[in-house]
This record gives sequence, structure tokens and C-alpha cells, in this order.
Amino acid sequence: MFVKKNIAIIGSGYVGLVSALCFADMGHNVTAIDKDTDKIAKLNKAISPIYEAGLENLLKKNLANKNISFTTNFAEGLKNKDACFIAVGTPYDEKTQTSNLSYLFSALDDILNNISNDIVIINKSTVPLGTAELIKQKIEDYKTKYKIYLASNPEFLSQGRAVKDFQFPMRIIIGIEDEISEKLLKDIYRPFINESSPIISTNIASAELIKYASNSFLALKVSFINEIAQIATKTGANIEDISYSMGLDERIGDKFLKSGPGYGGSCFPKDTISLAHSAKELSLDLPIIKNINFSNNLTVKNIADKIDLLLQQYNMSDLLVMGAAFKAGTDDIRDSQPLKIISYLQEKRKNINIEIHDPFALKHIAENVNLKKSQDLKKSIKDHKLIIIATEWREYQELSSELFLDKIVIDLRGVLRKLANNKNYFQLGVNF
Ligand code: UGA
Repeated sequence: MFVKKNIAIIGSGYVGLVSALCFADMGHNVTAIDKDTDKIAKLNKAISPIYEAGLENLLKKNLANKNISFTTNFAEGLKNKDACFIAVGTPYDEKTQTSNLSYLFSALDDILNNISNDIVIINKSTVPLGTAELIKQKIEDYKTKYKIYLASNPEFLSQGRAVKDFQFPMRIIIGIEDEISEKLLKDIYRPFINESSPIISTNIASAELIKYASNSFLALKVSFINEIAQIATKTGANIEDISYSMGLDERIGDKFLKSGPGYGGSCFPKDTISLAHSAKELSLDLPIIKNINFSNNLTVKNIADKIDLLLQQYNMSDLLVMGAAFKAGTDDIRDSQPLKIISYLQEKRKNINIEIHDPFALKHIAENVNLKKSQDLKKSIKDHKLIIIATEWREYQELSSELFLDKIVIDLRGVLRKLANNKNYFQLGVNF
């Protein structure tokens, strides 16, 4: 039976906003709290600050039926809430080589300073192993008169399909250490739970590790197939046939076996490094975990070196890169492999001219980066001899072969394999 709960969610980024709207859409009463006044103003006008399939519809619908409200005021947002989820960013910090937890602890301070009843605090932000212990300590030190319970509920939302991933989860993981939190989380998630979407109760340490282990394992699959792709190119094998054939073995599975320019985004790079860092802190020497991200960086560098060689061979100094987002379906350029390849090339060649196209992400590229932004893809293709396809946008797949007749195409995503008979078509893991 559905039990309506009063939920606050701190942080209205990809994770917080998607969770808030999906909970609201199931009938819970949700308040999303964020310190960013512009963001909250937009959300109150039913404008989504991020591009995510299906999100704006949920926003309009649930604002209209009053299941969701947005505020910058913590006291107001936390009033009479049963649960408070923390879904703030935990970005990678170069200096400490692990996640920056300042937003998380600042959110915790704001919660502790503003609650006015007993509450279950649930951490959804991806955090280094052991963070829950630090949170517990902080809650204890605060000595509030209210009873506070702590739980962990990692997210498995893939950008571009985050709403679907939330509504039809492969599993829901709850790290709990008391019955009140377990019952509350089961009540909250009840509408999403079924045979193919089970809820797993475990302890908090396991929940934290399940998140890192899952992301690192998927990153490992991607890195592995990218290493195999390099062998394929040298031996005359075809990486697509290899991925397909491996994937037919159910023990291996067909997901995350698509070779490409390495993994990017705000999760895999950060989480693989963070897991390796935790292993080191635990005095464990774990070569596989230690090297996942190293392999990924080499993949990117290897591609940039091959492009550089081609530029030398053809005595060229300008090119068009199609795709800036770290994958199709999102406008996110955080840790984007296309932009990393470009930086490598720019470092190596002082006189290189690069034009870049992306259907959604160009607005996020800073104006001072030495790149020409393409306003008209067909014209840009006409203007360049060398073209790199770096993101698997559907609109690239649909371009006519005619446009590429006299071009040198380096396809890092296999989206234009219909050009395979052209002598200047190079596909990663096949002939590149
Ligand atoms: C990833 C996970 O898939 C989510 O489950 C997780 O919740 C999320 O991180 C997170 O921790 O927040 P995301 O970063 O959105 O989601 O992107 P993915 O679809 O996983 O792709 C990651 C990278 O791997 C992309 O650069 C993509 O191009 C690359 N990739 C993926 C491949 O190169 N080949 C593949 O077969 C699959």
C-alpha cells in the first residue's frame, strides 16, 4: 500500500532534481532545497536548469499538482519532513586526489541547524568509503534534541536516461542501521519496487562500496574493450564483431562493451580514482583497481597521438571535431574525452586550428578556449578535410554519405560505418 511521505532533497543537480521529481510524481510531498537562487527561480517557473529527457514534463506536471515545491530556505523546506536526502556534488579535488566533501558537510550543517522534528537523513551523494562514519560523528557532536537516523542510498542514474533509470531501477540499494530508516525508505520506494526492481537492504559501508564497485566495474569493462580495440586494429580484427560476440555470452553481458575514446563524465573518472585512493589508504595494493583510470587516460592519449600522426602524414593543420559532450544524450562536457583529445593536440601543435560541433554542449565551452564553434554543421564539414567523430549523436549517424566523399574521417564511435568502403574512412578498433 502506498504511504505518502514528506521528503526534502538538498541539491537540485542531476541526481537531486531527478529524484525529487520522480518521488513527487509517485505522489510523495517533496520540497527541493538548493542555495542557488537562480536555479530555484527557474525551477519555480517550470524551467529545468539541465537537459534531461522527460524532466521538464515531470516538472510542469508536479508543480501544477503541487506535489513539489522549490526553495532556498532550509527551515521552510525541512519543516515536518520524514526524510531528508542529501544529493549535492562531490567533485574531484586534484590536490587531495579524492572527492571534495565541502558541499556535503555544508548541507549537513544546514540540515542540523534547521530541523524542527525527528528525521532520517539519507545520503545520495557519491562519497569516499567511510564518509558515513564522519557524518555520524558530526551528527553526534551536534547534540540536537531531535532524533536523527542516518542511511545511505546510492544512485544509479545514467545521464540522458536518468528519469527512466529512476522510475525503472535495476535495483534500489539502501544502507541502513536501524529499523525506522529501513521502513521509511521501503515506504518511499514502494511504488518503484517489483520483481525486476528489487530493493536490497544492507549496511551503510556496503552501500557506499556497492556504488564505487558498480561504477568502477563498468569503467573497467569500457577500458578493457578499448585495450582490445587497440589489439584489433594491429591484427586486422574488427572490434564491433568482437564486442558483439563477447556480449552474447551471458556471463560477460553485452553492455558497456562498446569501444570509443575512453570514458568521461562526472562519475567514472572521479569514482575510479576515488576507489583506488581508498584502497591505498587501506594499505591494499590492488593492481586492477589502481589501473582502471590509468588505462582510460592512455586510451585518450593513444587516439590523440594517432590523429597527430595523420596530420603529419597529410601535412594538415586544421580539423573538425564532431561532438563535445562525453556521450550522446547529454550536454555535459565534464571530463569530456573529445575536449581532452583536443587539448593534447593543441599542446603538441602550436599552429593547429580546430573547429568543434555539438548539437547541445557548445554553450558550455568557455569562450577563451582556442576553438572555433561550428554554427552550421554541413558548412563546417565542407570547410574541412579532416573530420573526427567523437560523440555518438544520432544526427551524425543520419548525415548523408555524400557530405564525406572527399573527406578523411576518423570515426571514434562507429557512427558512420556506412562509409566503410571509402578509402579515407578510419574506424577506431578496425583500421584506426
Ligand atoms: C554512470 C553510470 O552508468 C550510472 O549508473 C551512475 O549512476 C552514474 O555514472 C553516476 O555515478 O552518477 P554516466 O556517467 O551518466 O553514468 O554515463 P555512462 O552511460 O555510464 O557512460 C560513461 C562513459 O562511458 C561515457 O563517456 C560513455 O561514452 C562511455 N561508454 C559507456 C563507452 O565508451 N562504452 C560503453 O559501452 C559504455
